[in-house]
Amino acid sequence: MVDLSINFAGIKAPNPFWLASAPPTNSGYQIMKAFEAGWGGAVWKTLGIPVVNVSSRYGSVNYRDTRMMGFNNIELITDRPLADNLREIEEVKKYFPNHAVIASLMVETRKEWIQIIKDVENAGVDGIELNFGCPHGMCERGMGSAVGQEPEVLKTIVEWAKDAAKVPVITKLTPNISHITDPGLAAYQGGTDAISLINTIKSIVGIDLDTYAPYPIVDGKGTNGGYCGPAVKPIAMNMLKDLAQHPEISKIPLSGIGGIETWRDVVEFILLGATSIQVCTAVMHYGFGIVREMDAGLRAFMDTKGYHTIYDFAGLALPNVTEWKHLDLKYKVIAAINPDKCIGCDLCYIACDDGAHQAIARSIDLKNRIPSIIEENCVGCNLCSLVCPVENCITMLRKDDGTAHVTWAERTNADDIPTSFNDNRAGGIGHFVPKPTDALKS
Ligand SMILES: Cc1cc2nc3c(=O)[nH]c(=O)nc-3n(C[C@H](O)[C@H](O)[C@H](O)COP(=O)(O)O)c2cc1C
Ligand code: SF4
Ligand code: SF4
Repeated sequence: MVDLSINFAGIKAPNPFWLASAPPTNSGYQIMKAFEAGWGGAVWKTLGIPVVNVSSRYGSVNYRDTRMMGFNNIELITDRPLADNLREIEEVKKYFPNHAVIASLMVETRKEWIQIIKDVENAGVDGIELNFGCPHGMCERGMGSAVGQEPEVLKTIVEWAKDAAKVPVITKLTPNISHITDPGLAAYQGGTDAISLINTIKSIVGIDLDTYAPYPIVDGKGTNGGYCGPAVKPIAMNMLKDLAQHPEISKIPLSGIGGIETWRDVVEFILLGATSIQVCTAVMHYGFGIVREMDAGLRAFMDTKGYHTIYDFAGLALPNVTEWKHLDLKYKVIAAINPDKCIGCDLCYIACDDGAHQAIARSIDLKNRIPSIIEENCVGCNLCSLVCPVENCITMLRKDDGTAHVTWAERTNADDIPTSFNDNRAGGIGHFVPKPTDALKS
């Protein structure tokens, strides 16, 4: 029997599905509606000295038929008075005592941190999240990502918060930094109980071709916004992995955020070490109801694999995520086309000939347009299988027999790596490439 309940750094919730601090958590009405729909926790829209927002606020990257593949905003923290939010927090906790209500906070001085932490604790929150991530507006005022990008400052504020707080403290990190482990370690050393990531990525999503202003446009002008949605999931997962593999940071729980939309996304984040997940854009796009698919899918996955709780599989992908230098250089795959599935569209030929290694031959038989792989030229890059529009039409077949194994690290230790520009230990030695002038004949 699957049990989805979690204890995240002391914050208990009926499931790991949390709403990220954002417009869907702007009010008690929305959070109660979300809990009714099945969400286990919510991080309240960031509280602080209320702001004045602009209009418009959002931009989108629509990719072919997919709207909001990437999403961008220039919204700030809450623009509602603190007293209104506190009253609604209290009310939500009255109706949902077993759900996780976490207050996201962003203020400036130590005095303000102490005061607002006291206020939200009195309202009954189960935890607080320190917002060191907002990459627009608030950072110009010395808050948000301005703190997240300065590990020493971040550590000091985490220490202030830990001194003041009775409830668990989560530190939310900005991805707008070269090494996520720098602020991650600072948060850990400052005593944070947990880390959440990622906040949004500094971005410009497009330029209007009539006014030459960036979206979203505010009276003819724009500014960089924060990017999120499905497009940022790979960046978020990589940063999560960096923290989850760190010997010290990995001792505290991690809440995964960034592009999560389906149960599969949830499982992937858990496999990389997250033990709660947070969602913003997908809810803004499709509403609170998406949690039903997440819940059913996660339960079915755990049933099939025989897992009782999410802790049974949290982090299980981490040992398989290694450094490039530890990958097996002897492992060899090549592409294989299934003639029964091929529709003769030519996409694989074009991709391989123009963008890869000239390892696909077109059919000269006009009645049978199925291309063929030139095995000796194929480097096993995957490109053709990725562009092929027919599922499983091109598969990658293993060609080595698995007996030999050598990595770049091992070859380096054995002094067996190319060291000069024309070294005959180069990987491409002897590999077929057409003559440059062959291009003129095709
Ligand atoms: C319109 C909008 C407003 C947001 N406001 C906040 C905020 O007040 N505090 C915060 O910590 N994160 C804020 N975020 C960031 C989200 O909580 C989340 O970290 C980010 O959107 C990535 O998750 P997603 O890909 O599921 O949207 C906001 C995001 C959006 C789109
Ligand atoms: S795997 Fe790469 S090299 Fe091989 S046929 Fe496909 S695109 Fe060409
Ligand atoms: S891309 Fe796929 S379907 Fe199209 S020709 Fe190549 S193998 Fe056939």
